[in-house]
Amino acid sequence: MIKIAPSILSADFANLERDIRRVSSADWLHIDVMDGCFVPNLTVGVPVVKSIHQCTDMFLDVHLMIEKPVRYIEAFAKAGASLLSVHLEADGPGGIAQALRLMDGCGVRKAVALRPITSPKAILPYLEQLDMVLVMTVEPGFGGQSFMTSQLDTICEVRSLIRQYNPACRLEVDGGINRDTARRVISAGADVLVAGSAVYGAADPAMAISALRG
Ligand code: DX5
Ligand code: ZN
Repeated sequence: MIKIAPSILSADFANLERDIRRVSSADWLHIDVMDGCFVPNLTVGVPVVKSIHQCTDMFLDVHLMIEKPVRYIEAFAKAGASLLSVHLEADGPGGIAQALRLMDGCGVRKAVALRPITSPKAILPYLEQLDMVLVMTVEPGFGGQSFMTSQLDTICEVRSLIRQYNPACRLEVDGGINRDTARRVISAGADVLVAGSAVYGAADPAMAISALRG
């Protein structure tokens, strides 16, 4: 079953509650947290996740594009995150392992994310305990970029590792997803699709969500 996760990065932050309601037919809500270090952009942090949690029952899929995410796992979990994704490039193996342990302790679902440059094999030390792997299909940092076709091979490779080591693990793709690329990533093995501009840039976000599902 394919899940659609609209990214609020393309929403109107002055009307965030209204824009979250507009995508309530989606499965998850994707929240991009950026620290200005791991990526050259700043977005929202713990207080915004907390406020979002208070205004919706949606599953909160929180994508942490921050250095040393281990410092903030408990805070985001307490704020209401349902799932946290940490980038494998954001800390050493010890820091990533510790971040995943903290997620376990907080009862939050666990994911690791890969920049386009990172080898799919980098997920292997963690794969058996993960709920999801996030494959970036653009360089993280900004919405509205073009899909990197070269990432289709990465998606296929990650799907084959998942099949081998942890078939229940989900595979999310993020960046440049629209009706056209959705079809291609699904056949490569993705089952959770993040979409920012394709949903919020559409005249009718609910129609855009069902078009992505279809
Ligand atoms: C980019 C973010 C994405 C972004 C996707 O670093 O992780 O979630 O919002 O935006 P679109 O769908 O417009 O490429
Ligand atoms: Zn994202």
